[in-house]
Amino acid sequence: MNDLSAFPDDFVWGAATAAYQIEGAATEDGRAPSIWDTFSHIPGNVDNGDTGDVACDHYHRWPEDLALAKELGLGAYRYSIAWPRVVPQADGRVNEAGLAFYDRLTDAVLEAGMTPFPTLYHWDLPQAQQDRGGWPVRETAERFGEFVEVVADRLGDRVKHWATLNEPLCSAWIGHLEGRMAPGLTDLTAAVRASYHLHLGHGFAVRALRERIPDAQIGIVNNLSPVLPATDSEADRAAALRADGHINRWWLDAIHGRGYPEDMVKLYGVELPIQDGDLDLISAPLDWLGLNYYFRQIVTDDPTGPAPYARMVPGPNEERTAMDWEVHAPGIEHLLLRLTKEYGAQKIYVAESGAAYHDTVAPDGSVHDPERTAYLESHLAACARAVAQGAPLGGYFVWSLIDNFEWSYGYDKRFGLVHVDYETQRRTVKSSGRRYAELIAEHRRRTAR
Ligand code: IFM
Repeated sequence: MNDLSAFPDDFVWGAATAAYQIEGAATEDGRAPSIWDTFSHIPGNVDNGDTGDVACDHYHRWPEDLALAKELGLGAYRYSIAWPRVVPQADGRVNEAGLAFYDRLTDAVLEAGMTPFPTLYHWDLPQAQQDRGGWPVRETAERFGEFVEVVADRLGDRVKHWATLNEPLCSAWIGHLEGRMAPGLTDLTAAVRASYHLHLGHGFAVRALRERIPDAQIGIVNNLSPVLPATDSEADRAAALRADGHINRWWLDAIHGRGYPEDMVKLYGVELPIQDGDLDLISAPLDWLGLNYYFRQIVTDDPTGPAPYARMVPGPNEERTAMDWEVHAPGIEHLLLRLTKEYGAQKIYVAESGAAYHDTVAPDGSVHDPERTAYLESHLAACARAVAQGAPLGGYFVWSLIDNFEWSYGYDKRFGLVHVDYETQRRTVKSSGRRYAELIAEHRRRTAR
């Protein structure tokens, strides 16, 4: 594979997961339902009627999962802290059993020699907050800030690397505009307000973390895509500009103190509920940016579709993942350089990169997934090219450590370095996991010299 020597000596090699996708134990130890419990239990919302009720049973099997992470040689583990376990209801009462779970988990991550990188919101809004209006209302952002205070007070002595939100685009646009994710709305006004309050919640979270953890390293994780017009027509080029605003600029400009892109504010036509001081909170300085990259978007004008009136068309590469996403590694290089040049990023982590394939267990018990190995190698090579051109990339987290609940696609879509047999909960490291471990070991050997 290509040379990874461009990566810095202290490059962080990790893998990521998220609470609702792996934990299960949906009703245990005081956890209350989240919007994803509600959404997944509505027939038709998730393939095969799957839910996160049991998932990978990580709530009970975390020692085994962390042992696997250690076996792979990971230097860091990115997991998320479930708000509905820690502050299950809208009354603000802290559920000690939920908090204690993350306390134990975090200690074990550290004991295994890995740096904990928790995410504070990975889509599992307590249903009780949804019942009070959810992200379209300001109160949810305020309650999120309070939840973060609780977590920071408990874990801040040991955890220094924090991500506030994961992929707010999905929460706002897919959850409130496209209806394919919880809470399943198709309402532009609700979506735009949700996007704003997600950012505000991020701002409250940053403030809570800074006040409590002076040496915290704080970031936000956005999923971004390079956007290209399907043809050179004026209509498609305009569509690509709108899609770029919707997918990338909306999520980057505000947190960089540039406000919300004017063209998009005009296009959405929804008044933002900005109060004095909000934009400063939203753009408080960060220590790092998290980039999740899966695919580029080639778009065509779509005047009758939903905002931003641009429809994605299939890319030309025949290579596709089980999600039917086009494989296009140069996209990650492009985005790393864009964050560096256009947004002046000082430190970036690829917080998620990976692919779903139809993995099966061979008769000898092994799981051979050469496509995922090739995917990871090509994306790491693209990252190395970006680093060689000046991108301040600090680390790379594979999505995902283990197969898990892939939201509205259920359990059929497997992203893990480790295969999970959902009948038996047996874990098997895939050949891509072994290859990732080799790359980590190689990098360590080289930098130890
Ligand atoms: O599984 C998701 C994850 O929760 C967020 N980022 C994208 C992944 C793959 O779709």
